[in-house]
Amino acid sequence: MEQEQMSIMQKEIFEEPAVIKKLTETYITSDGKINIDLPDRISNIVIVASGSSYNCAAIACPLVMEYADIPCDCEYSSEFVLQKKHFVTQDSLYIFISQSGETSDTLNAIKAIKKEGVKTLCITNTKDSTMWNLCDFKILSDAGEEKSIASTKALCAQIFCSILVILKILSQKEKDVDISCQINTMRRLSAYLERIIMDSDKIKNAAQTVAQYENISILGNKNYYPVAKEGALKMKETCYLNVMAYPFGEFMHGHVAVLNQTSIVIAIIDEENASFAQRNLEKIRKNYNPKIVCITSVQEFKAGDVNIYIKTKRKTKAIFGALLTLQLMACTMAKILNKNPDSPRGLTKVVKD
Ligand code: AGP
Repeated sequence: MEQEQMSIMQKEIFEEPAVIKKLTETYITSDGKINIDLPDRISNIVIVASGSSYNCAAIACPLVMEYADIPCDCEYSSEFVLQKKHFVTQDSLYIFISQSGETSDTLNAIKAIKKEGVKTLCITNTKDSTMWNLCDFKILSDAGEEKSIASTKALCAQIFCSILVILKILSQKEKDVDISCQINTMRRLSAYLERIIMDSDKIKNAAQTVAQYENISILGNKNYYPVAKEGALKMKETCYLNVMAYPFGEFMHGHVAVLNQTSIVIAIIDEENASFAQRNLEKIRKNYNPKIVCITSVQEFKAGDVNIYIKTKRKTKAIFGALLTLQLMACTMAKILNKNPDSPRGLTKVVKD
């Protein structure tokens, strides 16, 4: 029997466990230290990026505040360059994230802030790119060449590197802090992603359902809101559907009115938002009766018509699990809808001026 041809996007999604394994070996030493260079003193962080790389910034931002305990903001590169005033201090660190290292909006943002004399760090997949050469500190996200216009493995690598930055800041700030638990979680991540890929039948079946709808809303709280946005971006780029992502709580403030029986809601649920999500999904079902798909790290959570369980108790792993689930879903939906995810209409890999 002829083997079905895999899209480049799908191949790159399948490479994620290997990418994470390689990054673990490169950046985490055998005695659990993080092998990256950062400024000694960091008072606050601003992360600037575009597209999927921006979603990485928005995933990392609340984690910087929660774990490293310093203020953090994230901005779209294209908006950042329009801003007339930046409040920098001597120990501010500006982080720029880009797969290509050549995105014009992000390069313009670096050039603008460098005039203020602040320290800059890039996380990029392209060594010796313009971004790499412009920044003071550099981390190679080393996902290998990413050909698919819809970024998947590169984003996965960027998030991993961002979390390493956070853990490194924490260990620099508090000399006696024990980060072994977080390091173990990072070490187990590759195997976790591998399991999700191996066991993805339920995700593929859910994609069959989602692909029947044109009114798709993806809901997530905190770090899961940018994960939801990334899922929506992947479905837009590969299926040309107008998929919207919302912070779950905010969705209930009027946006919910877009729902009806021809809509589908995809909700990302973890321990922290489970009871809130349960209450609100019940309300949503009662008032609008859309189809509901839940991606959840809580095994008992069954509020959806379809419930995809991404087994883990660790928040960082659940972020990757939800992201991978949405990437696989988007890729499968494209196939079902007869769209070629490798040549999306009117898009280029690098967005330049
Ligand atoms: C992601 O799937 C997109 N192709 C796009 O949003 C991309 O992430 C964005 O243009 C930024 O690219 P960069 O990471 O190379 O800077």
